[in-house]
Amino acid sequence: IGRFFQPKPLAGQHVLVSAGPTFEAIDPVRGLTNLSSGKMGFAIARAAHEAGAQVTLVAGPVGLPTPRGVGRVNVKSALNMQKSLDLLLPSATVFVSAAAVADWRPAQSAEHKIKKDGSGAVPTLSFVENPDILASIAASPRAKSGALYCVGFAAESHDLEEHAQAKRKRKGVPLLVGNIGPATFGQDDNALLLVDEQGMKELPRAPKLVLARQLVGEIARRLTS
Ligand code: CTP
Ligand code: CA
Repeated sequence: IGRFFQPKPLAGQHVLVSAGPTFEAIDPVRGLTNLSSGKMGFAIARAAHEAGAQVTLVAGPVGLPTPRGVGRVNVKSALNMQKSLDLLLPSATVFVSAAAVADWRPAQSAEHKIKKDGSGAVPTLSFVENPDILASIAASPRAKSGALYCVGFAAESHDLEEHAQAKRKRKGVPLLVGNIGPATFGQDDNALLLVDEQGMKELPRAPKLVLARQLVGEIARRLTS
């Protein structure tokens, strides 16, 4: 039997997924970014669409193709990402924050390309903290009332379980997904640790699309229970 006969556990849901890195401009030609590939977020968007949801991806700068049937908005900075999400959130029922949002941005972005002045002097960069997009969305009335189900991600280098549970509480989300093991950025495989109020569950190493389908199943189960 083909996909036509597959169950659609997310039918009627509108899933919003943020994915990829953000790019924080220093000047018109330079900026600060990170090594997030966007693969996990894109796989989740694809899996959510397969599960019958209407899906919108808000993607930082990545070269990945848009999964079939998924809507996409491209963004650069964390502030751009927050603005796009805010516009899409009123109709969303699930938000999966898979993006690797830059924690800081340059305090100011130069209007023109910064030039060497010939003296060997180097520019000084100062930073300001970006808003915590997930935490602010999780604190919104729709999230608080249960109309919007929020899922966070966490990349931790050590003591994943402890850090993931602490991060889940700090962000105020019902479900937080930890990446197990170092350097999953850019890999096709991953392993995930799901933490919620009940405790934790491991999704062992597998291709990101397989994990994304499992995660979507876990989310669907939590929406109906
Ligand atoms: N996140 C966000 N906005 C930020 C930073 C993070 O929405 N400014 C989201 C990420 O998309 C992810 C979750 O918060 O779903 C956790 O991100 P992470 O970088 O692990 O946590 P931080 O709170 O930034 O803490 P730290 O990087 O110091 O561990
Ligand atoms: Ca961070």
